Amino acid sequence: MFGNWRCWTVYRRMKAESHEEALEKMKIEIVPTGDALGAEIRGVDLKRGLTEEQTTAMKSAWQEHLVLLIRGQQISDRELVEFSCHFGVLELAPANEFTFRGNVDMPETPPEISVISNVKVEGQPIGALGSLEADWHTDMSFMDEPPLGSILYALELPTEGGDTGFSNMYAAYESLPQDVRLRIDGLVAIHDNSLTSAGTLRKGFEQVTDVTKAPGARHPLVRTHPESGRNALFLGRRTNSYVPGLSVEESEELLDFLWAHAVQPRFTWHHKWAIGDLVMWDNRCAMHRRDPFDDTERRIMHRTQIRGDRPYYSAAA
Ligand code: SIN
Repeated sequence: MFGNWRCWTVYRRMKAESHEEALEKMKIEIVPTGDALGAEIRGVDLKRGLTEEQTTAMKSAWQEHLVLLIRGQQISDRELVEFSCHFGVLELAPANEFTFRGNVDMPETPPEISVISNVKVEGQPIGALGSLEADWHTDMSFMDEPPLGSILYALELPTEGGDTGFSNMYAAYESLPQDVRLRIDGLVAIHDNSLTSAGTLRKGFEQVTDVTKAPGARHPLVRTHPESGRNALFLGRRTNSYVPGLSVEESEELLDFLWAHAVQPRFTWHHKWAIGDLVMWDNRCAMHRRDPFDDTERRIMHRTQIRGDRPYYSAAA
């Protein structure tokens, strides 16, 4: 509901602009990072909104590079939501049990905005993940229909640490030995719901003692991307993962191998944030992680998430 209303506002703003302004806004430059994934988009000012041409160019760059970076923006929450609407229908921020809106009432913040922060107000966290390291993961893959992508905008940063890394899961899959690919095509894994990516227990969950009973969605280990048609490794999160049908020992051995393979530096790119940076990643074919930072400093990031669909595997891909 909210998502549709906001997207309509974007459309109306675009229509009101002159032809010259629109032409000027069409020029975007795509600068690949030179690593296994990621590209910087230059020439957009998100305060002014995106033209249809820019949106099309960005969608195509997103599909090719998996992660896009736009530097130096100065946007409000509402403008972040409007920008995000170009890429799909937005999820509302997860409810408090996932702590993405902290325990602090934020009536001014649009419901689509999740807060990633270590900041506390009167002892209460305003957002999720604190200052700890976040392990490699796919956002909310414990859901049956995880978001297709996330958009993260930097408002306040520590002087050091808190860098975010990304790993290309197409490249990880395509470079697996043939026998491993044959073995995992068609297998599924449990994506545990009980822990945050920083390893803390979510409210309402108990510590998992038997991975075969871990709560969370089951997804194919190899996921076919619904737009590119390519196959990617889809691992979600390592802790409490389990491959049904295998013994726990076999499952651990297979998952250890796949995880060690998937996060090798040759598949990754790391971003050192500056205030005003916006990074968007395709959750279906890229994983990410975050470095820890000094908890006496402040880091505030605002995130939107774009609704996704149920992961599937197609042998024909
Ligand atoms: C996340 O893991 O979703 C957050 C990444 C970050 O804080 O940089």
